[in-house]
Amino acid sequence: MTATKGLEGIVAAKSSISSIIDGVLTYQGINIDELAEKASFEEVIYLLWNGKLPTQSELDKLISQLGEYAAVPNEVIDGLRLYPQGANSMASLRTLVSSLALYDEEANDMSKEANYRKAIKLQAQLPTVVAAFARLREGKEPIAPKKGVGVAHNFLYMLTGEEPAQVAVEAMDKALVLHADHELNASTFAARVTVATLSDIYSGVTSAIGALKGPLHGGANEAVMVMLDEIGSLANVEPYIQNKLDNKVKIMGFGHRVYKHGDPRAKHLMQMSRQLGELKGDMKLYEMSVKIEELVTGQKGLKPNVDFYSASCYTMLGIPRDLFTPIFAISRVSGWTAHILEQFEDNRLIRPRAEYVGPADQHYVPVSERG
Ligand code: ACO
Repeated sequence: MTATKGLEGIVAAKSSISSIIDGVLTYQGINIDELAEKASFEEVIYLLWNGKLPTQSELDKLISQLGEYAAVPNEVIDGLRLYPQGANSMASLRTLVSSLALYDEEANDMSKEANYRKAIKLQAQLPTVVAAFARLREGKEPIAPKKGVGVAHNFLYMLTGEEPAQVAVEAMDKALVLHADHELNASTFAARVTVATLSDIYSGVTSAIGALKGPLHGGANEAVMVMLDEIGSLANVEPYIQNKLDNKVKIMGFGHRVYKHGDPRAKHLMQMSRQLGELKGDMKLYEMSVKIEELVTGQKGLKPNVDFYSASCYTMLGIPRDLFTPIFAISRVSGWTAHILEQFEDNRLIRPRAEYVGPADQHYVPVSERG
C-alpha cells in the first residue's frame, strides 16, 4: 500500500454534476463560460440539483421556495448574539449552519424528499445568517429576507438594508455562478465523506464549511485581500511580490491542483474587477492585481485561480474582506448539496487506507519504566 500525498490524481467518486476535462469546467456538461455569461445563479442551483436547466415555472417555484425558507429561527439569531466580539466569520458560519439543524424537525429525515427540501433550506438560509452575522457585529439588527428576489439581490439587501444597485446584483450573481461547483474539491469531498456514513445533510455542509475555511482552499480570497491591503499601492507591488517569490512564500490566489494552464473562472472575475473599477472610477485594485499576475505568472508560470480577482471584485462591491469566504460558501452550498444528494443516491461508506510508516514491533512499557 503506497499513499499518494494529497490524493493527487486519485479518482474517488463518479459524479455527473460538474467536470474538469482538459482545463474546461462544465456544470452538467454546460461550459462555465456560457453559464457565466447567460445563466442566473438560481438556474445554476436547479441545474446542479436536477441535472437540467429549469423551465420558467420550475425556476419560479425554486425562487419562491428560496424566499419561503430564507428566514431563520429566532433561536439561531439569538445564539449568534452570544458569539464573542471579533469571532471569525467562517467559524461563526460553521457554528450557525450546525445550529440550524437543531431547529429543523426533519434534520434527521433521510427521505429523498426531505433531503431535497433541506438542500433548498440550506441554500436559502446561508445568505441570511451571513448577513445577520455581518450586521450584528456592527451593532445593527438583522434584516428579514425579501421574497421573490434572487439570492444575490437578497444577500446584498440583507447586508446593507438598502435596495442594491442593479450592477452590484449582476456582479454578485455572476460570482455566485462561478463558485457554485467544482468537481471533487476539498470541501465537497469533506461533505461527501461525512454523509457517506449516512450522517445528515447539515453535518455534511458543516464539514464542508470547515474545509472551505482554510487558506489553501476558500480562505484564499480573504488572504488575497490581506495581501492587496499590505501592498497598498501599485508602486509597491513589485518589491513586495519579488520579496515573497525570493523567499519561496506562496502567493495566495495562484496555482491550482487541477488546472495547470489557468483556472477558466479567473478571466470572468478579472473582467468583472476591471468593469467594477471603471464604474467606481478607481482602478487601483484592478491594476495592482494585474501587476501581481504579470509577476507571478512571468516568474513562476503560476496562473490566478478563482480566488484572486474575486478579492478585488468583492471589495469594490463594498464587502468586508472576512465575508469573502462566507460568500464563497453561499454559492458553493449549491454544489455541496448537489453532491450530497448524489452521494445518497448510490451510497457506499468512504473509507480509504493509510500507508503505515510508524515503528514496527514495539511493546507496551509500564509507565514507571518509561524514560
Ligand atoms: N505561490 C507560489 N508558489 C506556489 C503557489 C503559489 N500560490 N502554488 C504552488 N506553488 C509552488 C509550490 O511552492 C510548489 O513548489 P515546489 O515544487 O518548488 O515546492 C509547487 O508550486 C507545487 O505546489 P503544491 O502546493 O504542492 O501544489 P498543490 O497542488 O498541492 O496545491 C494549491 C494547490 C493549494 C492551490 C496551491 O497552488 C496553493 O497553495 N495556492 C495558494 C492558495 C490558493 O490560492 N488556494 C485557492 C485554490 S482555488 C480554491 O480552492 C477555490
